[in-house]
Amino acid sequence: MDIKEQDQMYIAHTYHRFDAVLTKGSHCIAMDADGKSYLDMTAGIGVNALGYADKEWAKAVSEQANTLPHVSNLYYSQPDGDVAKMLCERTGFKKVMFANSGAEANEGAIKLARKYSYDHYGKERYEIITLVNSFHGRTITTLAATGQAAFHQYFDPFTPGFLHVPVNDEAALKQALSKHTCAIMIELIQGEGGVLPLAKAYVQTIAKLCKQQDILLIVDEVQTGVGRCGTLYAYEQYDIQPDIVTTAKGLGNGLPIGGVLMNEKLQDTFHPGDHGTTFGGNPIACAGARVVLQRLDADFLQEVMDKGEYLKQQLVSLPHIKAVNGLGLMRGAVLDEHVQAVDVVKACLQKGLLILTAKDKLRMLPPLVITKGEIDQAMTILREVLSTMG
Ligand SMILES: Cc1ncc(COP(=O)(O)O)c(C=O)c1O
Repeated sequence: MDIKEQDQMYIAHTYHRFDAVLTKGSHCIAMDADGKSYLDMTAGIGVNALGYADKEWAKAVSEQANTLPHVSNLYYSQPDGDVAKMLCERTGFKKVMFANSGAEANEGAIKLARKYSYDHYGKERYEIITLVNSFHGRTITTLAATGQAAFHQYFDPFTPGFLHVPVNDEAALKQALSKHTCAIMIELIQGEGGVLPLAKAYVQTIAKLCKQQDILLIVDEVQTGVGRCGTLYAYEQYDIQPDIVTTAKGLGNGLPIGGVLMNEKLQDTFHPGDHGTTFGGNPIACAGARVVLQRLDADFLQEVMDKGEYLKQQLVSLPHIKAVNGLGLMRGAVLDEHVQAVDVVKACLQKGLLILTAKDKLRMLPPLVITKGEIDQAMTILREVLSTMG
């Protein structure tokens, strides 16, 4: 049976698929079943940090698969401890709790925050403030955290205890704070919401309020983290110290992994039995993550920053692009009223370029290893496409 037919027949359709059957990839190039190649500016929605089939990553993952693929959390093993150590040493966080996806990491962060508040202030302090237009995942609780009504249709009732306040509005935030507030949870750049960075002063006010009132600051770095924005985590560029950071996507480089990084205040909050997941800290995923973190040294991150600036400069010079937002290699292009982002994405696909949308923006999350030459190639195709539109 043809791959598309099989997909149509057997896969539950929670996604629209573009008309390409991808069969293999190398570095920043994906190939389809007919041998057509695509320059990839999506990295599997911010996952393939080292591109497709990175040799060192693939070797580490296969060696681990051939020795100890899974043990469960009942026994010690090397890779999860190594990854946790690397994350803690590089960030100053004290402990890491592993999960299998961004949503699951956020669930863990929410539970951690509530447990801390329960222990210190009693069960009335449970409320979590998040932002309008945020995206935190698709489970019932992370959807409750997500400040977008469109995702809330059909799935009531949600986990109670979430409040959404408008972005960059300090007065609204202060008004929302109460004796029930346990945590404030933010993305520093709203990725799915349209690649919209929060104002630095606003983020610093949030951090200050949290510190003053012992409210926990949770930063969701599922999309912005692991070098995507040119620093290991984007919060470094906002000069704040969150209490909790969640991470996923790029850490896995193609394998499912998530993590909750917690500071000193939280490190002893959970006890055995309070939380868990069978696959969390899986040795294969962690063997791969270890390679990702090793690769993302200071020089690598500086290159991401430089290439991100270069990408931005190229994008602003293209027709129909009014502005470019984001940091590092997480970029959103604001289009004028003559073109629709989804039409641009479809036309680019025809010409061998994979890009994303985020709401009405064009979004680019290329593999972090992309070269300036490849950025030029992508921009040539995008210019051709945009020139024929509107
Ligand atoms: C900021 C943010 N949080 C959470 C998630 C959910 O991650 P996952 O799809 O791995 O559950 C995403 C996914 O796009 C995200 O961008």
